[in-house]
Amino acid sequence: MTEPDTVIRPALAEDISRIMSLEQGSIAHPWDVREIEKLISDNNKKCYVVQYEGTVVSYLGAETVLDECNIGNVVTDEKYRGRGFAKALMSYLLDDLKQSGIVKVFLEVEHDNAPAIALYEKSGFVRYGQRRDYYGQGRDAVLMSKELC
Ligand SMILES: CC(C)(COP(=O)(O)OP(=O)(O)OC[C@H]1O[C@@H](n2cnc3c(N)ncnc32)[C@H](O)[C@@H]1OP(=O)(O)O)[C@@H](O)C(=O)NCCC(=O)NCCS
Repeated sequence: MTEPDTVIRPALAEDISRIMSLEQGSIAHPWDVREIEKLISDNNKKCYVVQYEGTVVSYLGAETVLDECNIGNVVTDEKYRGRGFAKALMSYLLDDLKQSGIVKVFLEVEHDNAPAIALYEKSGFVRYGQRRDYYGQGRDAVLMSKELC
């Protein structure tokens, strides 16, 4: 972690409204409150936040199925981007997944989302395919994965 006074921790119910506002500011189709509640409470889901100087500035949501995981969303508050928060969160998740016996992690990202693709490549993900019009007409998804062992 590059910044002092930074904590990475599992998301709590009290973080839901902050997570929703991060989603709404950054994601075309934000999750609703019930989806975020499930993300926090379900045993097969993972939701972590970065708290910096007392404020939740970044969060990540993922789902595990057997020994695999799919990362749903990663968002950093626009004001705090480029400071290593998402990279630290990703590293935290990958360590946690490895310790839990997860062997492979998947994600999809819009083909022109350069910051997210760079984040994932820096975290060791490689491209294995592309899904045409996945996010709408002309908006392809790049499919990426990472082996954990
Ligand atoms: C993608 C996102 C989560 C990155 O968050 P962040 O906290 O700014 O990322 P970090 O500061 O940890 O950067 C991690 C790496 O990503 C890359 N990166 C981050 N922002 C970048 C940018 N604007 N352009 C190019 N690469 C970028 C860098 O390679 C960086 O690694 P480095 O510091 O070693 O060079 C953030 O831009 C965001 O919230 N975007 C909107 C939501 C979104 O599209 N989420 C992903 C799809 S669900």
